[in-house]
Amino acid sequence: MEIFKKIAPLKAFLKEFRTVGDTIGLVPTMGALHNGHLSLIDTSKSQNSLTVCSIYVNPTQFNNPVDLQKYPRNLEEDVKLLQKVGCDVVFCPSNEEMYTGQASLKFDFGALDKVMEGKFRPGHFSGVALVVSKFFNIVNPDRAYFGQKDWQQFAIIQQVVEELKFGLTLHSVPTLREADGLAMSSRNLRLNEQERLKATIFHQSLLAAQENLRQGRKITDAKKLVEEMIKKVPGVTLEYFEVADSKNLNVLEFVNEAEKPILCIAGYVGDVRLIDNMFLK
Ligand code: PAF
Repeated sequence: MEIFKKIAPLKAFLKEFRTVGDTIGLVPTMGALHNGHLSLIDTSKSQNSLTVCSIYVNPTQFNNPVDLQKYPRNLEEDVKLLQKVGCDVVFCPSNEEMYTGQASLKFDFGALDKVMEGKFRPGHFSGVALVVSKFFNIVNPDRAYFGQKDWQQFAIIQQVVEELKFGLTLHSVPTLREADGLAMSSRNLRLNEQERLKATIFHQSLLAAQENLRQGRKITDAKKLVEEMIKKVPGVTLEYFEVADSKNLNVLEFVNEAEKPILCIAGYVGDVRLIDNMFLK
């Protein structure tokens, strides 16, 4: 496995590697890797001649400095895991390598980033779009892989790819869950034992809301149900629960199956912010 910290040698390596017919898969991550990330690597490996995994905690996507500071970092362990699953290339740049001075380029996604994550984390998606565009320019992948847990992020990146004409295909890979249903996330590492148990409430309330809506109940009823379930767990707070059109992320007031609704939730367990989602069908 090749490890690069600098852009120029990585680009030179990829240029040398790529001959006619070869494809490159990119798995962008912020490290603290778990099995969810490894399933993205596996998928990329099964579809490409070479898989690049980037590990970079991107400061411009954090609207909360404490969150950035506390984000788990474990490069040595990550590299071992990537080696084990047969990843070909790791790119782990420094801030100086990725940003020359202050980042001033901003993205505005209109309605897409004014709801849910965009509403509660202003500037977050602009930072994601900026860093992902940099990775696309540096690696020039044929395919890039993201987890379904960050569904709104996926929709945003899809728009970036379409508008900026990056010639690549995006793949969303289903969320992996722990045995008790908790969506795998690097942030789970920050939960203490009690918080870890409480965190399952997000998955449980998504399942309950999904069941409700499948039985024909209204979205307002499903919202009340979720609010009540979360309220019962001390130390857990709900930021939002929304049912959205999975394509354009418009928040729905009524279920219309043509919009392939997705149920999205975000909240805190202690001071750890978690998100999850589930398609209605
Ligand atoms: O989903 C993530 O881990 C990050 O938002 C990403 C896509 C690696 C950009 O920093």
